[in-house]
Amino acid sequence: LPLYIITPTYRRPEQIPELTRMAHTLMLVENVHWLVIEDAKIATEAVTKLLNRTGLRFDHLTAPMPDKYKQKKGAKPRGVSNRNRGLKWIRANATDGVFYFADDDNTYDLDLFNEIRKTNKVSMLPVGLCTKFGLSSPIVKDGKFIGFYDGWIAGRKFPVDMASFAVNVKFLLQRPNATMPYRAGFEEDGFLRSLAPFEPREIELLANNCTRVLAWHTQTKKNEPSAPLDMKLYYSTNLVDLKK
Ligand code: UGA
Ligand code: MN
Repeated sequence: LPLYIITPTYRRPEQIPELTRMAHTLMLVENVHWLVIEDAKIATEAVTKLLNRTGLRFDHLTAPMPDKYKQKKGAKPRGVSNRNRGLKWIRANATDGVFYFADDDNTYDLDLFNEIRKTNKVSMLPVGLCTKFGLSSPIVKDGKFIGFYDGWIAGRKFPVDMASFAVNVKFLLQRPNATMPYRAGFEEDGFLRSLAPFEPREIELLANNCTRVLAWHTQTKKNEPSAPLDMKLYYSTNLVDLKK
C-alpha cells in the first residue's frame, strides 16, 4: 500500500538544500508518493527540476497562505494551507494506504517509514529535538498509552509535534470534515481533534512502544547574505538524474 508524504515548503535560500536532503531519504523508501506543496502562488522551477531528477513518484502543488494570515503580526500558521491542500489531494486521489506530514527541514530515519506503514487509524511515535524538553512523545506504561510528554502542553488534547503521527487514508476518508486549523501552535491538536471520533487511548504506539526516536525536529540556521541574493546562483545548471 502506498505511503503518502505531505511536505509543506516555501521559497527561501534553504529550500533546495532542505528538499535535496529529504529527497535522498525518500529515494531509499519503497512505494512512496511525495506530495510537495509550496506556500507560493507559482511553483518554484528549481523545485520542479529537483523533483524530476529524483525518479520519485510525486505531485508538485501550490497552496499560498491566505493574505489575512500572512499580514498578521506574530506567529503565523506555517504550512497549514499546504497541508490542507495535501488532504484535498488525498481525498481526490487516494483510496488506501497511510499519510504522514513531513516538514521539509526535519530529519527522518528510514525505519520511520516501515513503522508508519502499519497505521490502521492514527499512530504516534517520539520526536527528538522537540520543544524545551528535547523530546516530545506519548508516555507508555506496561505497553499502554498513559499521557503525553511535551515541553508545551497549553491545554492541548493532543500535545504532539507534526512529525509524531501518521494517519490511515481510509480512516481519513471516513471523516470528510477533518482539516487543519489556521491557528499557530495548535495545528496538530486541531487536526487530530478534527478526526473525531478519535481519543488518545486509541493511539497506535509505534517505534517499539515509543522507545525509539525515528524523527528529529531539526532546524536549519538561516543564512543572511549581506549582498542581494540572486537565487539563480543557488541552483545548479547542469542537472543530472539522481536516481540509479
Ligand atoms: C513547528 C511544527 O513542527 C510545524 O509542523 C508547524 O507548522 C510550525 O511549528 C508552526 O506551528 O508554525 P517549525 O520548525 O517551527 O515547526 O516551523 P517551520 O519548519 O519553519 O515550518 C513548518 C513547515 O511549514 C515547513 O515544512 C516549512 O517549509 C513550511 N512553511 C513555513 C511554509 O510553507 N510557509 C512558511 O511561511 C513557513
Ligand atoms: Mn521546522
